[in-house]
Amino acid sequence: MSLSFRHLVSTQKVEKADISHIFQVSREMEEVLMRRGDQRLQGYILANLFYEPSTRTRFSFAVAMHRLGGQVISAEGIQFSSLYKGESLEDTIRVVGQYADIICMRHPEQGSAARAAVVSSVPFINGGDGPGEHPTQALLDLYTIEKEQGTLEGVRVALVGDLHYGRTVHSLSFLLSLYPGVQCIFVSPVELRIPDSVRDFLTARGVRYTETDSLIEGLQADVLYMTRIQKERFQDQRAYEKLKSAYVLHAADVKGRRTTILHPLPRVGEVASDVDDLPNAAYFRQVRNGIVVRMALLTLLLGKA
Ligand code: NCD
Repeated sequence: MSLSFRHLVSTQKVEKADISHIFQVSREMEEVLMRRGDQRLQGYILANLFYEPSTRTRFSFAVAMHRLGGQVISAEGIQFSSLYKGESLEDTIRVVGQYADIICMRHPEQGSAARAAVVSSVPFINGGDGPGEHPTQALLDLYTIEKEQGTLEGVRVALVGDLHYGRTVHSLSFLLSLYPGVQCIFVSPVELRIPDSVRDFLTARGVRYTETDSLIEGLQADVLYMTRIQKERFQDQRAYEKLKSAYVLHAADVKGRRTTILHPLPRVGEVASDVDDLPNAAYFRQVRNGIVVRMALLTLLLGKA
């Protein structure tokens, strides 16, 4: 069985069958990773194109590829790029598609991933397009929720923080909409509310959601998905300063509850370090899950599952 898509740009069109398939292969990859990998992607090359800073997404893709015996070529920052010399994004992708078998790109502009995918001759993965989407993070988030909660059906997920610019929240909301009985509680300052486009999508799919600026309301959920206020997206740094400490989760807030606590990381103060010791603080397990989900995706998109 193969996936319904050749490029992964957005989670809006991802189907439930795709997710089951990716998760099934991800579970197999947990064992492969435990054995320090295998050679099923030997001879394949991933190009990591990062026009915006990244540690974990870039490393996670590189590790996934290396663990499967593949190789990685990588470019980071605007100064490396022929874009700097005036080349179009489309031409860069056409050229890189001659070098590599699969491309992962992070770019500061929303919509850049869709433009790149249109011209890509090899499978293309959106590693984050500005404030748009971050589909692979959302897949690993969903995988983690299922693992920690035992199910996706009927889960109540509170998404907290910068819901306006937080691309992981957008992609995750689209995926959650596929599961019956899911409820989303969007917790943000009014200035950083979830975009209308995401709300409209959820409404069209009949998903129940509420919006609030109170973290206390979010604490009732089964899953707390904390996020960072996205400093780099603010035109006015004073507005960022005003909002940056809007929510801080402490261990005492969730003590005695079984709430799964997630964060795409990096955290910059929204989850206090005393939360780390709680058994339900799952953000470092989430990082590990990111490797296996990406191993699965690379394998499936390259037709080697
Ligand atoms: C996220 C991103 O880049 O959108 N990080 C990540 O990929 N793990 C979240 C963030 O930067 O806040």
